Amino acid sequence: MTYRTHHCNALRSEDAGTTATLCGWVASRRDHGGVIFIDLRDREGLTQVVFRPEESPDAASRAHELRGEDVVRVVGRVAPRLAGTENGKLATGAVEIVATGLEILNAADVLPFPVDERIANEDLRLTYRYLDLRRPEMSGNLRLRHRVIKTIRDVMDAEGFLEIETPVLSKSTPEGARDFLVPSRLSPGAFYALPQAPQQYKQLLMVAGIEKYFQIARCFRDEDLRADRQPEFTQLDVEASFVTQDDILGLMEKLLVEVFREATGATISTPFPRLTWRDAMDRFGSDKPDTRFAMEITDLGDVFSASQFKVFRGALDSGGVVKAINAKGFAKITTGQIETLTELAKQAGAKGLAFIKVENGEWKSPIVKFFSDEEKAALTGRLAIEEGDLILFGADKWETACETLGRIRLRVAEILGLANDPTKRNFLWVVDFPLLAWSEEEQKWNAVHHPFTRPCAEDAGLLESGEYGKIRALAYDVVLNGVEIGGGSLRIHEPGLQSKMFSVLGVDEQKQQTMFGHMLKAFQFGAPPHGGIALGLDRLVMLIANAESIRDVIAFPKNNRGVELMTGSPSEVDFKQLRELYIQSTKKPA
Ligand code: AMO
Ligand code: AMP
Repeated sequence: MTYRTHHCNALRSEDAGTTATLCGWVASRRDHGGVIFIDLRDREGLTQVVFRPEESPDAASRAHELRGEDVVRVVGRVAPRLAGTENGKLATGAVEIVATGLEILNAADVLPFPVDERIANEDLRLTYRYLDLRRPEMSGNLRLRHRVIKTIRDVMDAEGFLEIETPVLSKSTPEGARDFLVPSRLSPGAFYALPQAPQQYKQLLMVAGIEKYFQIARCFRDEDLRADRQPEFTQLDVEASFVTQDDILGLMEKLLVEVFREATGATISTPFPRLTWRDAMDRFGSDKPDTRFAMEITDLGDVFSASQFKVFRGALDSGGVVKAINAKGFAKITTGQIETLTELAKQAGAKGLAFIKVENGEWKSPIVKFFSDEEKAALTGRLAIEEGDLILFGADKWETACETLGRIRLRVAEILGLANDPTKRNFLWVVDFPLLAWSEEEQKWNAVHHPFTRPCAEDAGLLESGEYGKIRALAYDVVLNGVEIGGGSLRIHEPGLQSKMFSVLGVDEQKQQTMFGHMLKAFQFGAPPHGGIALGLDRLVMLIANAESIRDVIAFPKNNRGVELMTGSPSEVDFKQLRELYIQSTKKPA
């Protein structure tokens, strides 16, 4: 016996007159005065089946009892639909199956929610994820993800890269998030860490002479979750020896061109624009600029060099900046919206958000009374101010002003719908990241990327002289429509330089040996110059699918509390299991 002769997206008008057997789920059932119509759904699509009492009384009478999501097998004659009842939206819409036989393979219970539409309650969707995944939108996302991964494997293989698996039970890697730990039964009191990324292993593969490595790697990070963050996610992880930054950027561009061609048919143009981190911050107030709209941040330090306005005066006198964006056409902003934006500015660390509304030829603003005519003229020129515009100012330390206006820029674009064109694919590289950043909270220098990142050769002197904040890294991020889809760097391969880097990060000699001794040792035995990158696969697929969240492109994601609702993980375990692991919970019983 074979279950079926066709899938549910196969039959066309040419098939009329033949016999077909289909299997699938009852997507819908309609009763037209004794004649029953069902839409039969499988992975590939829908086919309409009609049960007529005169054709097959038995099948027609049982079809009366069919309910949504029953699994059935239908035999029948392929017939053209009556003129005027064709469905142009359906690939099989010219035909229907006139059923002669119906077998109910498994009846479905009353459903917790209708399967044919996306319901708003995501927790319910995740609890019954297998039902949610029956929707074509969701299975389409999984199919897309498969195609993207397949293309990646093909391209990387053609480029001579070997796919190599690295341990999941591994040692803590300093990628910046909290580790997930796994207690070891065989080494009481010791823990594995789930990898935040295969960073150290891939570098050790370079020391091993593998030269070109990649992996579709699962990564684990215990961090606060958002729409584009999951505690476990997937990277395309890449590392290569004897390569320059241009080699890696070029390889990724080639790969992304292929991925988009395969997945969407669209041609994306290369090379991607490159922005230095400094320019990205200066012009877009973000290290992942969304360039689908302009509204660039403009520096006004020279315009206001003699300003009488105490906020601007104060910022400039203390070495800060005065910057602004022109939200074109947004003078109609409401007082409530101004308040919300000001609140957002304050969350970003600003003290306020000065503004000018240009309405009826007039500048409406609490602060223009402090501006001279020259300042007004210069401002008009610099920001191309016209009737209907809204100007928003940031006067602060450079970082705060950039970041504040960067966030305001994104929010204004959201309100005005400036980034809604689904066909826009704005790729860019951010390069020349700083190597180190001072943490006020920890009172120490931290690696901006990770501690294996190589400083720019030109800035090596600054590492000696202690001007850490000025050192640029050979690090790069790839950004698509304002989302960081990947990041990487050239690496340190000299034991001396690596050790120096750890010292700057406050890791003393002894800790260097216990935490990173294996890396420092390996570098002593002939480590080639090397570098790499990792692409966030979930984010990439999310953007290709125009999905709102990476949860929509992951089969079984966790919700934003880190819970996988379908199976109910994480869950409590038996005391006996803990005892075997020499673990005791310190959580007080509720
Ligand atoms: P990085 O930490 O920048 O680099 O990660 C690379 C890319 O992975 C994606 N990503 C995530 N996606 C979903 N959920 C998360 N929680 C999450 N965290 C990161 C992002 C990001 O750009 N080892 C280095 C790479 C290297 O140097 O080669 C690394 O992991 O898209
Ligand atoms: P104040 O004189 O403090 O009431 O501020 C006058 C205007 O400047 C108000 O609209 C504030 O929101 C705004 N403002 C205050 N501090 C800043 C700042 N650092 N950057 C931009 N605008 C500010």
